[in-house]
Amino acid sequence: MKAPLRLCILISGNGSNLQSIINAVENGNLDARVVAVISNNPDAFGLTRAQNHGIPAWTINHRDYPQRQAFDLALKKQINESQADFVVLAGFMRILDSAFIQSFERRILNIHPSLLPRYKGLNTFQRALENGDSEHGVSIHLVTAELDDGPLLMQESFAISKDDSIADIQQKGHALEHQMYPALLRSLAEGELIIEAHDIFFRKQALTRPLTLQDVSSH
Ligand code: GRF
Repeated sequence: MKAPLRLCILISGNGSNLQSIINAVENGNLDARVVAVISNNPDAFGLTRAQNHGIPAWTINHRDYPQRQAFDLALKKQINESQADFVVLAGFMRILDSAFIQSFERRILNIHPSLLPRYKGLNTFQRALENGDSEHGVSIHLVTAELDDGPLLMQESFAISKDDSIADIQQKGHALEHQMYPALLRSLAEGELIIEAHDIFFRKQALTRPLTLQDVSSH
């Protein structure tokens, strides 16, 4: 039998995505173990969520490290100690340098609230609304040295209605995120999704477009 996938989850805030992953594990829907939660923000509510579920949680406060490299090094050390298979960024608000990313090459995932490559960076809901977009969405991708770039693994969209506020769009996005991260991780844990150095496969076929929730839920 395969060992559960070991996940180290990096957060900076509320941690609702972290919670969705913890719930999937606890409900038996995801054969994984959250082996560590690390926050750069000592006040992140996600730390409390981890503690509530008996998950080791650490703060590595970037403010204690005037040099970015020293922060990255401390982070790297903690992740290595957790012996994680994947590093899962879930609302982690620090930019990681390329040396850090290289040391976990193709093992760092990120969730971003837009239909990448549209709207990299911050305030994606606001920007979509200001541009009068009729749809918005969520992307999960492999992290590379470029911000919010890297191969797309999963994408889901939703319609923006004429009278939607930023909060409405955010709420629709979050609802999707909370389904997407557990579902994507499940396909990794089950060996359906395989990430190699140069290729990505889903059910033995090379991935030619981002997966959808439907792809990973249909058997
Ligand atoms: C999510 O919207 C995610 O897409 C973005 O940061 C937010 C984190 O939310 N990267 P939470 O901390 O998981 O509630």
